[in-house]
Amino acid sequence: MMLTVKLLEVLSVRKRRADLPVMRSLVSPSRDADLLDIGGGGGTATRTFARDSHSITVLEPDIRKTRFGSRRHPDIRFVRGRAEGLPFVAGAFARVTAVVSLHHSDNVDRAIAEARRVLDSGGRLVVHELYPGPEPKGIGRFLARRFHGSPPVFMEARDLRDRLEMQGFEVEVVRDGIRGYFIAAKVRDEPHARAGSEI
Ligand SMILES: C[S@@+](CC[C@H](N)C(=O)[O-])C[C@H]1O[C@@H](n2cnc3c(N)ncnc32)[C@H](O)[C@@H]1O
Repeated sequence: MMLTVKLLEVLSVRKRRADLPVMRSLVSPSRDADLLDIGGGGGTATRTFARDSHSITVLEPDIRKTRFGSRRHPDIRFVRGRAEGLPFVAGAFARVTAVVSLHHSDNVDRAIAEARRVLDSGGRLVVHELYPGPEPKGIGRFLARRFHGSPPVFMEARDLRDRLEMQGFEVEVVRDGIRGYFIAAKVRDEPHARAGSEI
C-alpha cells in the first residue's frame, strides 16, 4: 500500500510539474508564515510550493497518506481531518492552500468558511482547481473513490470566486494554468460569519 501511495504522490507532482511553480509564486512562502495545506495527501506536492515556510501542516483524511507523509517528510506536520471541520484554532495560519482537493469536499462552502476561520487577519488562501470536465468513469472513478475519498465535483473559476467572496474573502488573482486554474484571495477585514468548532 505504501508503494501505491508513493506512486500516486510521484504521479501527482509529475502531472502538476508546470503548475506547481505558479502555486509557489502565489503562495509566496515566508519564514514568518505558518502554512496549512488542505487535502495535501502525503505532502510531496506540498513541499514543492511551501518550502521556506515557518511551518508546514498537511490536513488529510486518508491515514495511508498521513502515515506515508510522516515517514517521508518529517519536517511536515500531518494531521488527519477533513476540510469541512478543521481541527485548528481560529487565526492559526498565515497561508492556507488547497491543491486539487476542494473538489472532493461534500460541502465546499463549509470548507471555505473553515479556511477563512483558521487564517489570521492578513492571511491568504491559494486554491488550485482542475477545469471542469466529464465525470471520471471506469478506472478513473474507481481510483478517485479508492484513493481520494470520493469522485470529484469540479467548479468553474467564476463559481469558486463567488463562493470565496460570499465567505469573507477578497479575491486578488484568478489565473489560468495548464491543467487547471488558480485563485488567490486574502481575508477581508470586515466581520464575517464564523463557522465550525475550535480546539
Ligand atoms: C487529487 S488528491 C490531491 C493531493 C495533493 N494535494 C496533491 O496535489 O498531490 C485530493 C486529496 O484530497 C483529499 N480529500 C478528499 N476529501 C477531502 C476532504 N473532505 N477534506 C480534505 N481533504 C480531502 C484526498 O484524500 C486526497 O489526498
